[in-house]
Amino acid sequence: MVNRTEQLTAQEQELRLKEFLAKIERGEKIEADDWMPEDYRIQLIKLIAMHGLSEIMGALPEKEWVPKTPTLKRKLSLMAKVQDEMGHGQLLLRVAEDLLKPLGKTREDIMNDMFVGRLKFHNVFHMATVSWADAALIGWLVDGAAIVTQKMLAHSSYAPYARALKRIILEERFHAYHGEDMVIALGDGTPMQREMMQDALNRWWPALLMFFGPPEEGGLKSNQEMNIRYKIRTKTNEELRQEFLDKYVPQIQALGLKVPDENIYYDEAAKKWVYTHADYTYLRDVIAKNQGPRSQNRLNLRKIGFSNNAWVREALLKKQSEQIS
Ligand SMILES: [Fe+2]
Ligand SMILES: [Fe+2]
Repeated sequence: MVNRTEQLTAQEQELRLKEFLAKIERGEKIEADDWMPEDYRIQLIKLIAMHGLSEIMGALPEKEWVPKTPTLKRKLSLMAKVQDEMGHGQLLLRVAEDLLKPLGKTREDIMNDMFVGRLKFHNVFHMATVSWADAALIGWLVDGAAIVTQKMLAHSSYAPYARALKRIILEERFHAYHGEDMVIALGDGTPMQREMMQDALNRWWPALLMFFGPPEEGGLKSNQEMNIRYKIRTKTNEELRQEFLDKYVPQIQALGLKVPDENIYYDEAAKKWVYTHADYTYLRDVIAKNQGPRSQNRLNLRKIGFSNNAWVREALLKKQSEQIS
């Protein structure tokens, strides 16, 4: 491949890297066929594959509630959301696939890598959805957290990812309205419904904090630093978490719910939320070792779907190769 770093001399590599950095510094975008440093490619693959897998695995917690929605209207909107999330996964894995091609890997490898634990998905989607209020909370706050992150990533220096995200965000906004509507209905409901909502918030709060990644104690980790230098992302984990708290703590309180953190307050002088950190070690293990309450069950479900649908992929690939020849 023309754009693979190892086929260039050290001097050529240095020059290309300089041009590449100058290009992203000028705010220009990188396309799939453009030359890119190997570590840029690897960072993008990790990020976009994890994002795509999280969309697919993230459809499962809510899918569990599709047969049990309280009304037809809720069933229709929940089904539409679940389908959207699978579509987001499809779109993102295609973006990752283009980056994988020069490494001789395919989209199927992404899924297989997740099955053997080489690729991960977000901690929130390892959690159990024990009540209808969990489905409401996911739409409202998990999609809300996703919008905060995706709005930043939509400015990524990698053009195909930025383009895909602009389209995805439009649908994520609908998801957040759908969740908000469900939360308001429960908040306006019976004492038992309000209790269900509070209980869901209590259980999901630590995972929501972790959604943005652990805090950067003692400075940025090399991955984040590299992603910021390459303009794949522009904000740190903590900046994103603060944005989320800015937006949602007042909303939670306005709904008459209680933020499940006795110590949280807004420090006016520092202009930031001071809050109790989640158990990041446990949550990191949930992602790294797939040991969340529903991790194995959902991975097994995905494996069954992946293997049952293998014939569709094989038929499409065969048709594609016939068209090419
Ligand atoms: Fe999504
Ligand atoms: Fe969504």
